[in-house]
Amino acid sequence: MIGTDFPKIERRKMHRATHLAHLIAHGKLEIMNKPAVTDVPILELVRNRWSPRAFAEKPVPREVLRSLFEAARWAPSSNNEQPWVYLVATKDDAENFAKMLGVLVEFNAGWAKHAPVLALSVAHLKTQREGKPNRVALHDVGSATAQLTFEANSRGLLVHQMAGFDSDKARQAFAIPADWEPVAAMAIGYPGDPETLSERLRERELAPRTRKPLSEFVMSGGWGHTAPFVTR
Ligand SMILES: Cc1cc2nc3c(=O)[nH]c(=O)nc-3n(C[C@H](O)[C@H](O)[C@H](O)COP(=O)(O)O)c2cc1C
Repeated sequence: MIGTDFPKIERRKMHRATHLAHLIAHGKLEIMNKPAVTDVPILELVRNRWSPRAFAEKPVPREVLRSLFEAARWAPSSNNEQPWVYLVATKDDAENFAKMLGVLVEFNAGWAKHAPVLALSVAHLKTQREGKPNRVALHDVGSATAQLTFEANSRGLLVHQMAGFDSDKARQAFAIPADWEPVAAMAIGYPGDPETLSERLRERELAPRTRKPLSEFVMSGGWGHTAPFVTR
């Protein structure tokens, strides 16, 4: 039983975890949404984005894939450098898919192999015209991937990004040039059944999503000073 002495937000989290566990126990469940329990209202799309490990084996139509990368294309970037490339592997191209899977660390490959699409973002570390270091290339690639992710979510797909891959292996496997840096791998696909995961991963799949409070990272006037609007 959930008592009434818990703060409202904690009760909501516990109710949700209990509810999900109940659904899992009573049949198949695909979790499209694992909404953030926010302290203040935010856009539904942002609230519902999350990183699953259970994916359905359903392929992603090519026109949908094109839209995801079109969304990435229209991300802002410093000087409009657009310092991104995405290497993409769809499951129907078995050789390419196996090559991408082989770049992931074992833990990630274990669950990501079920996703219909794997991708790797790559950043151009030098500016196009002058060949000078581009200090914000990684930032811009992350921003493009965020746009791709929200486009995917709006189309019923989920994206799980991964730092757990071997950068040197990726460079070799895909002939990535020296001025380009592999940034993040990602699994893209439709939500799957958490029952297909190992017990440990299933627990993580169903665990509530957590974040630091705004007071820890929104500062004003100097380092360590929480911005006044955060608290009042
Ligand atoms: C750049 C990046 C790298 C990540 N690397 C991994 C990874 O290697 N393996 C993994 O299982 N999850 C990885 N994640 C997922 C994070 O653990 C996840 O985003 C975080 O726990 C917050 O959960 P949420 O996305 O569901 O809100 C990564 C996420 C990002 C953005």
